Amino acid sequence: PAAAPLRPAAGSQAAQAPQAVPDAALVAEVRTAPWERIASIVNRCRACMMADTRQHTVCADGAPGCPMVLIGEAPGRDEDLQGIPFVGKSGALLNKILEACGLQRGRDVAIVNVLKCRPPRNRDPRPDEAAACAAFLDRQLELLAPSVIVLMGRQATLRMLNRTERLDALRGKIWKLSIAGREVPVVVTYHPSSLLRNPVDKEKGWHDFLFARDILQHGAGAAAG
Ligand code: URA
Repeated sequence: PAAAPLRPAAGSQAAQAPQAVPDAALVAEVRTAPWERIASIVNRCRACMMADTRQHTVCADGAPGCPMVLIGEAPGRDEDLQGIPFVGKSGALLNKILEACGLQRGRDVAIVNVLKCRPPRNRDPRPDEAAACAAFLDRQLELLAPSVIVLMGRQATLRMLNRTERLDALRGKIWKLSIAGREVPVVVTYHPSSLLRNPVDKEKGWHDFLFARDILQHGAGAAAG
């Protein structure tokens, strides 16, 4: 039987939801799946209770060939309805920032999330849920083989770098991730919905994307100097 979730917030929906348990067969299948099959594998996932509440799974916007990969947290209401990441208000802001940096979704930029399904009332992903979704994101990153990764917000930063500091302390540096045996430069920035709540940070967010674009265009060594 599944264990109870770690440190649940008393009385919350997260506390009541049973522990997410990855489906070993799907995990094995996705490990060798080509890009085109990932969405149909994710559609069969019932590892957590979000499988009962989702309208759509939300896998990715963009595909291998996009050199910059953005990692968000989880679908919200609009994404759940459309099955595409960042199509709501935070997506509109993200599009503006990308456009201002001369970056195009689907051409220069692919977008994926830590979770593929919408958490109830947009609550934070629980660690067991992020872990149950991990094989999907890991395979996406292997196949995307990005030249630079942008982590948007605390949840993506926690999942990919295992860092819990304030984002302010993590921005402006080049982090590294090993993906399929290759070292990939990583930049941390605010989540677009946090920028909607704190517009004073928008300029810093825009600079983070310019930083990532510099890494893409000139390499991590030149951008860091
Ligand atoms: N927020 C996210 O983190 N991801 C989305 O796809 C939409 C909103």
